[in-house]
Amino acid sequence: MTIRQVHQHFVGEVSGIDISQPLNSEQVAAIEAGMDRHAVLVFHDQALTDDQQLAFSRNFGELEVTLAGQMAKPEERRLGDRLELGDISNLTAQNRIRARDDRSRMYALANRLWHSDASFRAIGAGYTLLHARVVPSKGADTEFADMRAAYDALDDATKAEVDGLVTEHSIVFSREQIGFSDYREGNEDRLKPVRHRLVITHPVTGRKSLYLSSHIGGIVGWPVPEARAFIRDLMEHATQPQFVYAHKWRVGDLVMWDNRTVMHRARRFDDLREVRDLRRTSIKGTGLEVAQAA
Ligand SMILES: [Fe+2]
Repeated sequence: MTIRQVHQHFVGEVSGIDISQPLNSEQVAAIEAGMDRHAVLVFHDQALTDDQQLAFSRNFGELEVTLAGQMAKPEERRLGDRLELGDISNLTAQNRIRARDDRSRMYALANRLWHSDASFRAIGAGYTLLHARVVPSKGADTEFADMRAAYDALDDATKAEVDGLVTEHSIVFSREQIGFSDYREGNEDRLKPVRHRLVITHPVTGRKSLYLSSHIGGIVGWPVPEARAFIRDLMEHATQPQFVYAHKWRVGDLVMWDNRTVMHRARRFDDLREVRDLRRTSIKGTGLEVAQAA
C-alpha cells in the first residue's frame, strides 16, 4: 500500500490495497498514519457492498448512527435498517428522484454549507467515509478545507482571541441559514445546542485546528450577532482557495476525511434529473470532549 500526496498537501491518494477485504493491523495503522499526515485520503476503484463499507469503517472505531436515519420513519429509509449507513443520495425509498419540494431534499441542501459532520452532537464525528455508487455527469464535487492550515495562518492576536472560546452547535443553526425549519415533533432533544471548543488539538499529532461548522450559532458569553459575524469572518478566512481541495467523484471512489482537521461541503448538480448515490459511514471522534451546558 502506498500513499501519494495529490493536489494539496492535505490530500493523499492510496493505492495497492483492496478495502473490500479484511485488513491486518499494519494496514489499519498505515491508513491512520496517512490520515494524521494528510486529513483526506482517496481510494479509487473500490467496489464495495454496504456490509463491506461497514466492515472497513469499523477498523477505525465505533460507528455513528445517522441523524437523518433516526429522524426518518422506517418506511422512508431506502437502505433499510442499517442506521450506521448514511444515504447520501437524491433518491426516495422507492428509488425515484426526489421532487423539488421534497422535505428530505430540502433538509439535505444544507450540506452545501461548509460543515464538520455531526458537530451538532456533544461528540462530533472523527472520520467520515463516503463511497460513490452512482455519480452525475457533472457537478456534485465535495470540497474540503484544511482547518490546521487555516489556524496556522491566523495572526497572533486572532490566535490568542480564539483560543479558549466555546461555540454552540445545532442542526437548527445550519438549516435556518437556508430557511429550513420543518422538523417533526419528537426530535426536540436532537435540536438542542451542544458546546465545542473553537480551537481543538488533534489527539495524535498535537496540531491545532479551527473547529468550524455551519452548525455554529453562538459563542458562549458573546452576544449572538457578534458571535455570528465573527464566525462568518473565520469561515471566509478558512475557506480561501489555498486551503481548499475539490474532489471530483468517480464511481468506486472511497474518500475518508477527519472532521477534526477539515471542513467540507457538497456542490450543486442537476439533482432533479440526474442520480447521485453515495453511502456514508462516520466514526465517533475522540479528543472532542468538552463540558456541556447544565
Ligand atoms: Fe457532511
